[in-house]
Amino acid sequence: MRNCLQIWGIALFAAGCLSACGADGGKNVREATNPTLETIFARRSVREYQQRPVEAEKIDLLLRAAMSAPSGMDRRPWEFVVVTERSLLDSLAAGLPYAKMLSAAPCCIVVCGAPERQSYWYLDCSTAAQNILLAAQSLGLGAVWTAAYPYEDRMAVVRTQLRLPDGILPLCVIPVGYPASAGTPKMKYDAARIHNERW
Ligand SMILES: Cc1cc2nc3c(=O)[nH]c(=O)nc-3n(C[C@H](O)[C@H](O)[C@H](O)COP(=O)(O)O)c2cc1C
Repeated sequence: MRNCLQIWGIALFAAGCLSACGADGGKNVREATNPTLETIFARRSVREYQQRPVEAEKIDLLLRAAMSAPSGMDRRPWEFVVVTERSLLDSLAAGLPYAKMLSAAPCCIVVCGAPERQSYWYLDCSTAAQNILLAAQSLGLGAVWTAAYPYEDRMAVVRTQLRLPDGILPLCVIPVGYPASAGTPKMKYDAARIHNERW
């Protein structure tokens, strides 16, 4: 009887460990209590927003998160343009075919880079952009990456509307606002994409 109880105990403990480690392919990882992982797993692109401004303190936090990102040789070749002016947001929406949600967003952050400071500026600026997306999620905001780079026509729209100086290229325009609905993140975990030791 005592042996039997021990076996049951070990079995229950093992099942608990497997579940906590996400051995089911990621489903239970969503229930992790680690707040960073919760934010990562809950993030989704948000394209519809409440008619409510984003507090200046929160925009400041998004920018601080952006500038905490890693960059090659710590060059930090990024610059950010924060846009809250309604007419400017509407002009960007009119000129950018895949960023129409800007016409209903209370603000956006445009992530720009300086190729003179780093040839692969777009990689460094991408780490900053991802930090903005995750920080927005963690603050109850919703955001979406809309591409400017590498499309010449879209970059020209952003450059003209925001009067970017020569030598500064826009990577992406990130509309930010309070999400209009709760929404569900996509489930993307795919064990088939993982190759152990060698492909
Ligand atoms: C490099 C890049 C470019 C993107 N460009 C656009 C865009 O122009 N417009 C848009 O609505 N979404 C854009 N997205 C968002 C993707 O459509 C979105 O991340 C993808 O569908 C996965 O959905 P999720 O973010 O909700 O997980 C872009 C995302 C990335 C990373």
